[in-house]
Amino acid sequence: MPSPGWIPAVLASCLVAVVVCYPLTTDSNCTCYQTNETASQFLTHHKFFDFRSLPQYVNVPKAIDDPALSAGADVTSSYFSTADWQSWWQIQSWNNSDTLQRGNQTNATISDATVFMVNSPSNIYFERNTDARPASQTYLTMRTARHTTFQSAAEFESVALDYRYLSVRMKARTKGPPGAITAMFTYRAAQDMNKVQEADLEVRTADPRSSIQYTNQPSWNDNGDVPGSTQNISDPRHVDWGSWQVHRMDWTPKASNWFVNGKLLSTISFQVPRDGSQVIFNSWSNGGTWSGNMSLFTEAYLQVQWIDIVYNNTIKASPGQPLPGWPFPGQPSTSCKNVCSIDETSVIGTPVLITTPGK
Ligand SMILES: *[C@@H]1O[C@H](CO)[C@@H](O)[C@H](O)[C@H]1NC(C)=O
Ligand SMILES: *[C@@H]1O[C@H](CO)[C@@H](O)[C@H](O)[C@H]1NC(C)=O
Ligand SMILES: *[C@@H]1O[C@H](CO)[C@@H](O)[C@H](O)[C@H]1NC(C)=O
Ligand SMILES: *[C@@H]1O[C@H](CO)[C@@H](O)[C@H](O)[C@H]1NC(C)=O
Ligand SMILES: *[C@@H]1O[C@H](CO)[C@@H](O)[C@H](O)[C@H]1NC(C)=O
Ligand SMILES: *[C@@H]1O[C@H](CO)[C@@H](O)[C@H](O)[C@H]1NC(C)=O
Ligand SMILES: *[C@@H]1O[C@H](CO)[C@@H](O)[C@H](O)[C@H]1NC(C)=O
Ligand SMILES: *[C@@H]1O[C@H](CO)[C@@H](O)[C@H](O)[C@H]1NC(C)=O
Repeated sequence: MPSPGWIPAVLASCLVAVVVCYPLTTDSNCTCYQTNETASQFLTHHKFFDFRSLPQYVNVPKAIDDPALSAGADVTSSYFSTADWQSWWQIQSWNNSDTLQRGNQTNATISDATVFMVNSPSNIYFERNTDARPASQTYLTMRTARHTTFQSAAEFESVALDYRYLSVRMKARTKGPPGAITAMFTYRAAQDMNKVQEADLEVRTADPRSSIQYTNQPSWNDNGDVPGSTQNISDPRHVDWGSWQVHRMDWTPKASNWFVNGKLLSTISFQVPRDGSQVIFNSWSNGGTWSGNMSLFTEAYLQVQWIDIVYNNTIKASPGQPLPGWPFPGQPSTSCKNVCSIDETSVIGTPVLITTPGK
């Protein structure tokens, strides 16, 4: 623990309630990150995406009322062509025609979608925040819209397939009529749907604003529901997904843990994802029993001010070559040179140094 005396006042991050000040630092000065709360873990990397002040990229296109044009649409701003975005995320344009065609089979492992759904790059865009007392200048919107003959949706997936343990947070809200799902999750694909590994945070717009669904998939199979895989957390004191809240998921070796505004709401230790996984955000509806249907010509949105992730990945250093800043086998808390935190900071996205050697 650093003693307050040596902390430069300007660089200090003071949490009023805690009365501890840690110096703000840069990621390049952090050898690892320790997350707070019960799901405390040491992770090696940090990435912050800030959508709060991007007026130069604001462009809110109308939803495109043709499935092929919707899927084939260009990105809505040059932000999505930047190396920083593209090295992390891939905007999707897949559709569910495959599962729709199999939808007549009475087999629970096949989707019960009834509406043709198309992911569209035109449904991911920056928008000016016109709240009465705006907490940001802009935010990122992920739209899903019900058209005459189909549903358009929005999804971006991490380029990397091999995050293995992480803590991912977003400041977000969901808007719109019943029939949509907005989600932040990890995903590891498998040919057999029973072998998919996935930890989900899902908002159903049909549900009360105080209810969120947390799941380690699969939650159902040919025999019906999988007991212990999912929790519908209804907590009017802490959850209001229609307002700006910080949603956090900590994937640890032992459990998936979900928080809202720093409050632990759910821990699922059953069928925790084991292998390297992607991180995915989406907003969708397919007329199945889970999402329900949206009424014609309505739209729902996942709006995001920022995304903050600390993570490990399973990429190994070349044989004989330690990872930069490593190794520190054994107890990371004593062997990680500079331990940082993205929790104890007063500047979201900027880490603070919480332990240095000899302190
Ligand atoms: C980097 O870490 C060292 C401790 O190892 C600390 O003394 C220094 O102030 C840090 N620099 C910045 C810019 O945070
Ligand atoms: C992340 O990687 C570091 C370095 O290999 C390791 O010490 C740490 O235990 C890992 N964290 C988790 C949660 O596996
Ligand atoms: C839907 O996906 C299929 C299979 O990838 C593709 O052949 C078809 O063109 C797509 N339809 C639209 C409207 O994008
Ligand atoms: C499902 O079956 C019904 C009745 O046989 C048929 O009208 C419909 O076209 C089928 N749908 C698909 C997607 O195959
Ligand atoms: C359902 O479909 C899956 C995937 O195609 C298959 O593995 C499974 O055996 C099927 N189950 C039944 C009861 O037909
Ligand atoms: C979750 O719980 C709320 C409150 O009890 C309920 O209204 C809602 O229908 C539930 N959602 C699901 C998917 O069961
Ligand atoms: C953990 O950090 C979050 C911010 O990321 C904060 O909201 C929460 O109160 C912290 N929990 C504790 C126990 O300090
Ligand atoms: C959604 O609407 C379709 C008709 O377009 C209907 O077949 C289906 O049952 C509806 N889904 C739900 C969950 O009500």
